[in-house]
Amino acid sequence: MKVLIIGSGGREHALVSKVAENNSVEKVYCAPGNGGSIRENKCENINITKIDELLSFALENRIDITIVGSEELLVQGIVDKFKKNGLKILGPSQKAARLEGSKAYSKEFMKKYGIKTAAYEVFENEIKALEYLKKCEYPIVIKADGLAAGKGVVICNDFIEAKSSINDFMILDIFKGSGKKIVIEEFLEGVEASILSITDGKTILPFISSKDHKQIFDGDMGPNTGGMGVIAPNPYCNKKVLEEFEKYILQPTLVGIQEEAMDYRGIIFFGIMITSKGVYSLEYNVRFGDPETQAVLPLMKSDFVELVISAIEGNLESFDLQWKSGYSCCVIAASKGYPVSYNTGFEISEQDKLEGKLFIAGAKEEDGVLKTSGGRVLGITGIGETLDIAKEIAYTDMKKIKFEGMYYRTDIGK
Ligand code: AMP
Ligand code: GLY
Repeated sequence: MKVLIIGSGGREHALVSKVAENNSVEKVYCAPGNGGSIRENKCENINITKIDELLSFALENRIDITIVGSEELLVQGIVDKFKKNGLKILGPSQKAARLEGSKAYSKEFMKKYGIKTAAYEVFENEIKALEYLKKCEYPIVIKADGLAAGKGVVICNDFIEAKSSINDFMILDIFKGSGKKIVIEEFLEGVEASILSITDGKTILPFISSKDHKQIFDGDMGPNTGGMGVIAPNPYCNKKVLEEFEKYILQPTLVGIQEEAMDYRGIIFFGIMITSKGVYSLEYNVRFGDPETQAVLPLMKSDFVELVISAIEGNLESFDLQWKSGYSCCVIAASKGYPVSYNTGFEISEQDKLEGKLFIAGAKEEDGVLKTSGGRVLGITGIGETLDIAKEIAYTDMKKIKFEGMYYRTDIGK
């Protein structure tokens, strides 16, 4: 088999490495890939990113399976295009991708199918939004309707902050159209969990749970990032939480997918909040999480490629998804200044042999030298019988890596 992975982050490096474990896979292409995917067994990076180029490449090279990393192409309808051309691809149809592509739509979907979620209102007019914000309780959450590269959610502590966000989103239009429509939502207090899952439209198979650390600084301080580290399984996801999630979120979501005739054979990633009033659905993502993937996939015991084929062919109901025992901890190293502004082009050196698995994100190879090229530069995943062992491996390895301005949180999984 030949497999195409689309994307360039740590998530895609992890996908390449997992797919390559399957003996029937002879070649993995990563488009565009990064300085880590290129070093993986069987993998070749292909410097293309547009849907039409990817489609031509897949047809010309007789790609057997395509897996899409990031949400943009899914929302643009890459799955529909590939399928129309007879290609097998893991992902939601364009219609289903709206579950992530429009927050207003996903909230409406949750309401329609009785999925427990924070109370909300949708606004397209800034004057009406401000009138509403004058009367509501704080803190409150303001969300851009469309995709905003993970930056479209602001938690406002008072009216002044809310007014400033309305100005940014709706008047200054900092998200280039994505924030013209907004969702204003009740603030939920609790512990978050990420539950990656796979669906064929008839069954949703949840993966082991995980816990992202979104803020840039230790103690969950500072602005949100794409994710600074993940542990799996999530220690807060006990049996009761998982049962509640299954009954009040997963099952009704599946009903909604079917009732809306969505044609969904792909990843569905539930963001949930565990509160004193029960488990709430925060959001859907229609793709793998980053860095959740780097922590969760290494614990998968079943063959990942077989799982993907089973989802594409609609046979998930009979798939026996197995996990390794133990824990994983993925710590992300970022460029100094991320998530705001940062410099790149610094050489990355590995001073000693690592025990964990290195997943490259924002780094590329130039003349055989690995150099930083993005905000989140790399991650290291430690695996162990206990969470403490997994953390110890990831953090001991981190000290063996050096680049100028290297920054990482020291409390992942604490
Ligand atoms: P979302 O993209 O909707 O998951 O939002 C991004 C992040 O904002 C989440 O991971 C939470 O940390 C936070 N967030 C979103 N909605 C809420 C809410 N209703 N209450 C508290 N925090 C939230
Ligand atoms: N780490 C959060 C996400 O991928 O959306």
